Amino acid sequence: MLSPVQIIKAKRHHKELSEKDIQNFINGFLNGDVTDYQMSAFLMAVHFNGMTDNETFYLTEAFINSGKTIDLSNFNKFKVDKHSIGGVGDKTSLIIAPLIATFNLIVPMIAGRGLGHTGGTLDKLESIQGYSARISVNEFIQNLEKSNVSLIGQTDEIVPADRKIYAIRDVTGTVDCIPLFVSSIVSKKIAEDADGLVYDVKIGKGSNLPDDDEAVKLAKKLVEVTKKFGKKSIAVLTDMNEPLGNKIGNWNEVEECIAVMKGEKVDDLVKVTSVLCGAMLFMSGVANSIEEGEKISSEKIANENTYKKFEEMIANQYGDIEYLKNYDKKLRSKISYDIVAEEDGIIAELNAYNIGYASIELGAGRKKSSDKIDFLSGIDLHKKCGAEIKRGEVICSLYAETQERIDKALFQMQGSIKISKSKPQERILIKDIIY
Ligand code: URA
Repeated sequence: MLSPVQIIKAKRHHKELSEKDIQNFINGFLNGDVTDYQMSAFLMAVHFNGMTDNETFYLTEAFINSGKTIDLSNFNKFKVDKHSIGGVGDKTSLIIAPLIATFNLIVPMIAGRGLGHTGGTLDKLESIQGYSARISVNEFIQNLEKSNVSLIGQTDEIVPADRKIYAIRDVTGTVDCIPLFVSSIVSKKIAEDADGLVYDVKIGKGSNLPDDDEAVKLAKKLVEVTKKFGKKSIAVLTDMNEPLGNKIGNWNEVEECIAVMKGEKVDDLVKVTSVLCGAMLFMSGVANSIEEGEKISSEKIANENTYKKFEEMIANQYGDIEYLKNYDKKLRSKISYDIVAEEDGIIAELNAYNIGYASIELGAGRKKSSDKIDFLSGIDLHKKCGAEIKRGEVICSLYAETQERIDKALFQMQGSIKISKSKPQERILIKDIIY
């Protein structure tokens, strides 16, 4: 049996690891025989040298085998989920989960926390007072029986390997790596026992995988590996050059989703959400095509039933429904700073990558795994690309608990907003769909 150091060296020297090597290494990490620093070195070696198709599959299997899998075979409804590789302002899951559940489909969602410069669904949900993503598997199943939907994270029981490795990737610069994405994402989806999976692969400067060709490869690989596990799968490549929607943070993103479910128009957020839902409805047999599914979904986003299902989903996991009623009160951290336009023109760029890192500086994400999130920090965009702006008008507002955090965020924001005299090219939100 190869020792941890031999495994790291083998990967460093481009050697192909066997199924047993990978399984032993992951088991060793969970039982303490492989340390965090050895795992970090391994992840960096994989980041530089990649993995073969077989290695990627074995790593995914090792993640699944690291815990229990959920058995939803008693449900006689289609179980469908979506997962994003992570983007800035990417909050679609908060609308998709309740919306799809209103179609009498089961949405057993194991979601993630903030990763790299991008936010995480669980962190956003935990900005709602009382909400717990750490419920037991039994409770998760009871929620599905009662409401068709539940959202949890990886636990010590379910994909514990991903829970621990995800936290290390977040702070060691090893997020943007195809085999690590695939093993992390697909393992959670197989463990939750969904029948069909839709992947939102972000493409552009603010994606967790900013190289466009690599993003396309990732989309294909996610679909291929998921199908290998016998599940239906579709990947949608969606634009992430600019943040999605108008809010970046945690509570402010929940607030934006509630506003959308109550009728506010946030065009890019609604479009991406509708297409992803469309793919889920198509896959589930509710719609005859993704386009038809998109149309049906877009009509149900701003809808009382969708919002009611959202409230039910939050209440099932101890979230305070009264707190949700504050959604239009703009609860924010105490210090704010407005970035204003220095000239007249049209907003030509809002660089999602810089804006993502700025939001982490404000307190909306983690720089090390033990960092506590400030749920009320973040960024509100008042203008998006293509909007006209006058000198002195506010482009965006930053919120944090201290001036020091605001200053650090402003440093990250340098050069991230561009104003031009001419209209930028129209944003194409849906770049491709891969089956
Ligand atoms: N979401 C995950 O669960 N894993 C990743 O690697 C990226 C996004």
